[in-house]
Amino acid sequence: KILILDFGAQYTQLIARRIREIGVYCEIWAWDHDPAEIPAFAPRAVILSGGPESVTEENSPRAPQQVFDLGVPVLGICYGMQTLAEQLGGKVEGGHHREFGYAQVKADLSCELFRGLRSDSGSLPAYGEGESWMGAQGPAAAAEAAPGHAALDVWMSHGDRVVTLPPGFRAVGATGSLAYAAMADESRRYYGVQFHPEVTHTKQGAELLRRFVVDIAGCATLWTAANIIDDAAARVRAQVGSDKVLLGLSGGVDSSVVAALLKRAIGDQLVCVFVDTGLLRWKEGDQVMATMAEHMGVNVIRVNAAERYFAALAGVQDPEAKRKIIGRLFVEIFEEESAKLTDVKWLAQGTIYPDVIESAGSKTGKAHVIKSHHNVGGLPEHMKLGLVEPLRELFKDEVRRLGVELGLPREMVYRHPFPGPGLGVRVLGEVKAEYVELLQRADDIFIRELRAHGLYDKTSQAFAVFLPVKSVGVVGDARAYEWVIALRAVETIDFMTAHWAHLPYEFLGAVSTRIINELHGVSRVVYDISGKPPATIEWE
Ligand code: XMP
Repeated sequence: KILILDFGAQYTQLIARRIREIGVYCEIWAWDHDPAEIPAFAPRAVILSGGPESVTEENSPRAPQQVFDLGVPVLGICYGMQTLAEQLGGKVEGGHHREFGYAQVKADLSCELFRGLRSDSGSLPAYGEGESWMGAQGPAAAAEAAPGHAALDVWMSHGDRVVTLPPGFRAVGATGSLAYAAMADESRRYYGVQFHPEVTHTKQGAELLRRFVVDIAGCATLWTAANIIDDAAARVRAQVGSDKVLLGLSGGVDSSVVAALLKRAIGDQLVCVFVDTGLLRWKEGDQVMATMAEHMGVNVIRVNAAERYFAALAGVQDPEAKRKIIGRLFVEIFEEESAKLTDVKWLAQGTIYPDVIESAGSKTGKAHVIKSHHNVGGLPEHMKLGLVEPLRELFKDEVRRLGVELGLPREMVYRHPFPGPGLGVRVLGEVKAEYVELLQRADDIFIRELRAHGLYDKTSQAFAVFLPVKSVGVVGDARAYEWVIALRAVETIDFMTAHWAHLPYEFLGAVSTRIINELHGVSRVVYDISGKPPATIEWE
């Protein structure tokens, strides 16, 4: 396993995901995590991430001495390279203009990090995951690399630079403007790169990381979906013994994967409660039952609570008030149902690794911006149940791969996110059963058409919104005065910023025609072309 010390870069999670993709387990710890725990974690190598600070400033973050005492390989990336240089006796200078974007590094192939790499084409790759927000700078022409060297297309983002190498190091990569774009001390197996191998703009970045974790650190590539499942299942069995475990199934990806995993691990000791709020997508409640109960054989208690939700929401306009009611009712119903069950000792939850990293954070508060949309607030604390969180170490893409491996339908595992309050915040203003049904049917037409046209996977989230506004239309020969449906589709990486999706006009036209023709009560369809910011993805 690999330890990644986080100095607060946006890309730290990307480093971890790349390494996991290679098949090696890694964890991200804040740089100021208690260093006494490092030897016990016993990583085979340490990666120092990038970060927003400058090592030239007093009291800027440093890697703890324990990292060097381990005697394992160390790779510093960007800020990580600079602090590595500074801590080992080199010199870093600030005040240069920021270098941001494409660069070409002449990499020394005699360095183990670059061994066997070939020159890249010298052009920018298409946007990769996690990077579409970046401004691109013009590519340089493909340069002939000197013998023993390869010209690598890389992505840079830094202001400071290493100006004197620490003793024992040699330069193994340079650009036209940067003498030390990469450095190495091969006897101690310490490496530093000024560019970012974790972003796909650095075309052979994944190869470089593989050289480091597999060839240099000697890690075996055992982190595969099948192994993760076996391992997690064994741990759950050890944790709960023959006790019963309760899980709140929402129909979402995480809770479904937890259910499938626990079914594999402990069979019928797992009891799921699925609260059907009536605010899910068209026929989604039935689908959850068909998939989880019938197909996967999971023990599911379905509670049809639509009436209760509509009653509780009657007359309520304010979105935040609606969210509170929906969340509170969920907890209430979940508790009622679990009170009926006997000898349940554990509560399973679909917590995933990004939630863990974000809530741990760094003492300096420099870590990640915290996204705090949670489906339900405080689940029953007084129930005194132990927690089972088998996805705690996994990224979303890993959770999805596990789901497929466990036999969940691909289509459900790769679904767009769906907000906890569901259609409760997509019927604007007061929620009524009649509005919800119109919305469900319009939304169903939109989603089915997206799938049929191969557009579903090209958008990050798509849905319909019910506008409680009447507009005039002509239906047949008569004048109609009916509701409006808005369609929303966005492209985003992190859901913090988003572009509206440029869906083809013909496609939008066809969806609009179907909705207006098939739904009595809707005479107008509009498409939302607002970006986030300033608009949010949801309308409420
Ligand atoms: P906004 O609308 O804030 O949405 O741009 C960003 C992402 O969060 C989802 N979202 C929610 N998820 N409970 C949730 O579980 C909520 O109350 C909630 N509000 C928004 C939204 O669907 C999008 O993916």
